[in-house]
Amino acid sequence: MSEWLKQLRDSHSDFDRGGLIESIGENPFNGFSIWFDEAIVNKELEANACVLSTINPLLNQPSSRVVYLKEMKDEKFIFFTNYLSHKGQDISVNPKASILFFWPSLQRQLRIEGTVSKVSAEESDAYFSSRPRESQLGAWASHQSEILEKRDDLIKRLEEFDLKFPEFVPRPSHWGGYELEPTYFEFWQGRPSRLHDRLVFEYEGNQWKKYRKNP
Ligand SMILES: Cc1cc2nc3c(=O)[nH]c(=O)nc-3n(C[C@H](O)[C@H](O)[C@H](O)COP(=O)(O)O)c2cc1C
Repeated sequence: MSEWLKQLRDSHSDFDRGGLIESIGENPFNGFSIWFDEAIVNKELEANACVLSTINPLLNQPSSRVVYLKEMKDEKFIFFTNYLSHKGQDISVNPKASILFFWPSLQRQLRIEGTVSKVSAEESDAYFSSRPRESQLGAWASHQSEILEKRDDLIKRLEEFDLKFPEFVPRPSHWGGYELEPTYFEFWQGRPSRLHDRLVFEYEGNQWKKYRKNP
């Protein structure tokens, strides 16, 4: 075993920092809110960053990247991106996706799986208009996920859009929000002796079924 791997292994604690998984209760959305609030209170770094995984149906190839969760509203999880990006193209053909939160200081992982659709244009407009001007111009300048020959090309496009929109920056139609409607939640809480808790909520027959999984 390499030295750094050994050091890493030795640094893993005995998973005794988290609370009891029973605090999740009977509703996974309340459970999410409880854990999310605790991640914020615990000053978890980038608490709203989650790993979004999608599948390219033609290649049958999953791919993952981090996005920021912007809101949980009406039992849906909302994030914003470029609709023409790699993830956007995956979703346009296969709307099944998962988001995953890892809150290490609390020794928690939360998996959420479901179906993704676009939020309304009004909702995307509202969020876009709340962003700083640089981010708004960036949404125009970046052809997200496409090959960029040189960084200068991106800077040049940014300057062009800066001149084109001297005041109000409209939202590009290819940029907006997605909402993930969950059918599966799994709350993972590290516990001593590797006897971790896994609590699942699965939506079946119009109701949430709750059960535990072996760690
Ligand atoms: C902490 C963090 C937050 C990010 N948030 C977003 C986001 O909210 N939306 C987004 O499109 N990309 C975000 N990114 C960049 C993505 O991870 C990714 O590089 C980009 O969306 C292109 O992904 P794709 O080519 O797979 O579509 C974030 C990256 C990091 C590290």
